[in-house]
Amino acid sequence: MNGPVLSLDVADTGDREEFRRAVVAGLSATPRAIPAKFLYDARGSALFDEICDLPEYYLTRTETKILEQHAGEIGERAGPGCALVEFGSGSSVKSRLLIEALPDLALYAPIDISREHLEATAARLRRDYPGLRVEPVCADFMGPVPPIEHAARRVGFFPGSTIGNLEPAQATAFLRNARQLVGDDGALVLGVDLKKDPQVLHEAYNDSAGVTAAFTLNLLRRMNRELHATFDLAGFAHEAFYNPAEGRIEIYFRSLRNQSVTVAGRRFDFVEGERVHTEYSYKYDEAGIGALARSGGFRIAESWTDPSRLFAVVYLEAAG
Ligand code: AVJ
Repeated sequence: MNGPVLSLDVADTGDREEFRRAVVAGLSATPRAIPAKFLYDARGSALFDEICDLPEYYLTRTETKILEQHAGEIGERAGPGCALVEFGSGSSVKSRLLIEALPDLALYAPIDISREHLEATAARLRRDYPGLRVEPVCADFMGPVPPIEHAARRVGFFPGSTIGNLEPAQATAFLRNARQLVGDDGALVLGVDLKKDPQVLHEAYNDSAGVTAAFTLNLLRRMNRELHATFDLAGFAHEAFYNPAEGRIEIYFRSLRNQSVTVAGRRFDFVEGERVHTEYSYKYDEAGIGALARSGGFRIAESWTDPSRLFAVVYLEAAG
């Protein structure tokens, strides 16, 4: 039952080099920015798990509740014998809700860039669901993914409002990629964080325990460790705020003084107050989700939310 991990040539050995290249390019650019995906090394992933349990971070628990409440309806829409394809194999709690709700699920295929993470997830699921075919795919789901062969319907799953990390053009590109993967008869279950009181959003990304700050500043630690960088963690601060015009949370690390840092053998100067962008977290309303879905070749078949309308789970069907 323990099949090999399917993969494209995202070589494990290339990880460090890819990180180095992205950081050097990002710190050389104006304005400075480092792609959000690099926040998730082992410590970053553990910190993100902690974020999900914070009282201010309503996203995870709200989405889980919506999924629990509507898993049966999702199963009915998907129909029997389908394949579930998860983009990024994050919290297995949510995957399990769907695995258990989809009738006669034939195949579960998590796609993730972390081979370690995939292997661990796959092993646990095979243990807990002995009858289920689990075929992990090691790939960056923003790029080409090997075709997932399956006769019945393919249903994608992209929870957590991870789509919010993507700028609109990238979000459309992601959906088109997913649309191609699931095919003409396919569907996508998508979790999206909704626009709301900016104060609620602000607190979700500026928690009182400082876990989100540690998550952002962990990127500096990672650069120190993996790229022989010399960031003084006390010389930088986490900054997150809601930009209402763009409908997004913007996250940065900010230099608290004028300072020079060496990264991968190069010197970078920071002036006091200068910021390096690390993440966007886009928030949508119902109309925005509809427009996004259409731009990617889907239509909203059904949409569920919580009583306070904090978060939405939408069932998208491939549109002609
Ligand atoms: C994993 C992208 C959904 O945007 O809420 C949480 C990441 N960053 N706190 C989000 C995150 C800081 C999270 N996503």
